[in-house]
Amino acid sequence: MVENNKNDKLLVFDTTLRDGEQSAGASLTAQDKFRIATQLQKLNVDIIEAGFAASSPGDFAAVRKIALEIEGPTIATLARAVPSDIDSAIACLKGASKPRIHTFLSVSDIHMLHQMKKDRESIMSMAIDAVKRARDSVQDVEFSPMDASRSDPDYLYMMLENAIAAGATTVNIPDTVGYTNPQEFGELIAGVFNNVSNIDKAIVSVHCHNDLGMAVANSLSALENGARQIEGCINGLGERAGNAALEEVIMAVKTRPDHYGVETDINTPEIGPSSRLISNIFGFPIQFNKAVTGQNAFRHSSGIHQDAFLKERTTFEIMLPEEVGWKGDAIVLTKVSGRAGLKSRLEYLGYKVDDKELLEIFNSFKNLADQKKEITDKDLESLMSEFHRELDTTERFKVLDLDVVCGNKRDPVASITLELPNGDSESVSKSGTGPVDAVCNSIDSITKQDVNLTEFSVSSVTEGIDALGEVTIRIEKDGTIYSGQGSDTDIIFASAKAYVNAINRYLIIKSSN
Ligand code: KIV
Ligand code: ZN
Repeated sequence: MVENNKNDKLLVFDTTLRDGEQSAGASLTAQDKFRIATQLQKLNVDIIEAGFAASSPGDFAAVRKIALEIEGPTIATLARAVPSDIDSAIACLKGASKPRIHTFLSVSDIHMLHQMKKDRESIMSMAIDAVKRARDSVQDVEFSPMDASRSDPDYLYMMLENAIAAGATTVNIPDTVGYTNPQEFGELIAGVFNNVSNIDKAIVSVHCHNDLGMAVANSLSALENGARQIEGCINGLGERAGNAALEEVIMAVKTRPDHYGVETDINTPEIGPSSRLISNIFGFPIQFNKAVTGQNAFRHSSGIHQDAFLKERTTFEIMLPEEVGWKGDAIVLTKVSGRAGLKSRLEYLGYKVDDKELLEIFNSFKNLADQKKEITDKDLESLMSEFHRELDTTERFKVLDLDVVCGNKRDPVASITLELPNGDSESVSKSGTGPVDAVCNSIDSITKQDVNLTEFSVSSVTEGIDALGEVTIRIEKDGTIYSGQGSDTDIIFASAKAYVNAINRYLIIKSSN
């Protein structure tokens, strides 16, 4: 169980793998989740909410693997306050070294009336029963009264008191629809401390959504009023407009100890790698001016700023870029670099690879270096993402060759060869309204999955005409969205890889559920 008797320690609860996965357009495979959990372990978050065990067999298996194999952080799974969900959570976490069950149910009148269709009394007993049932098997139980910020405070206080009496070790106050503001939310948290008689027996947590752009401010206001656990997602992912961006909360606390007076155990240089990995796997780019992790976050443009910055860094910089893992765009490798140089740079970036893997990555590195003079750290991260994507989708479709003919006076035609899941290969040529359409048509005719392409975007990994292009594609199948990524200096080839990756991810997720 997480201990937090020290008043100056803030617990960081990461829900990227649960609330973050609820972001519209996100779809993670079990391998994606495990890779992200491994990175969150390096970041040293206190709690990883790995998923929602009862939601699907695939999520159950993904949470279980993380709970059994990731050491360090507490691993939580979400559960509605109903016996079947609690039992599924117990089964999922069985044998884990630091398990937590996070059970929730709605407490605002608007939710109880329209969503739950139950009265206050029934909701109260459901909450108590759920916490007791969880606590009978697991020592660490978190209870969340959903839509707390729009509930009747007196009812909320009574519910928290009952939940703690039933065994909840953490009580979490969600601003589920991002409705509140910092002053009101701070007062609500102060109200919890003043009105819940047994509050000293639990950690008070907050979970703020960003519908009005105040999730981080509301979380910090709760901290000022005594909350000692903050929930959120890296890059502010999550349902609708997302949750509090954890990296912003963490750096606010670290940059202003004079004001907040608390510390975290976060390994802050892992913030940048975590943010980039999660952006890459989810297929949601990081906005350029994003606080802490945006690519402009440490760039000074105006002459006046640059002049002062060069004289004294602190004139215009409140954090050290290295503190958040900003490694700059240092050019370190070229086509004459050898395997040892590549390995050592990968290790510096936090990737451990064995000799067999290194050989494969080295081949891709050489191909890239033939097309691109200078290989930066960002290129290497993109190369590693591509490598992991391929590993995750072995025994699925793979793009072997692509030839596209196009121009403004003719219909584009794509000739493609795919490796099939059984190891054979198949080639076809198809036309389309544009080169990407022709590529997708030819892939469709081999994979026969009848998916709809709903989103296509390209971004470049670095600057320059020879930059690697990263393509993100989203497809829709049976009402669910699946994303896929691919990178290459040729963006049409990257598009083919991204489309095939989306189809593979759909097949993997379908087969796990
Ligand atoms: O936003 C919310 O209320 C939630 C709960 C499950 C904590 O995500
Ligand atoms: Zn939420």
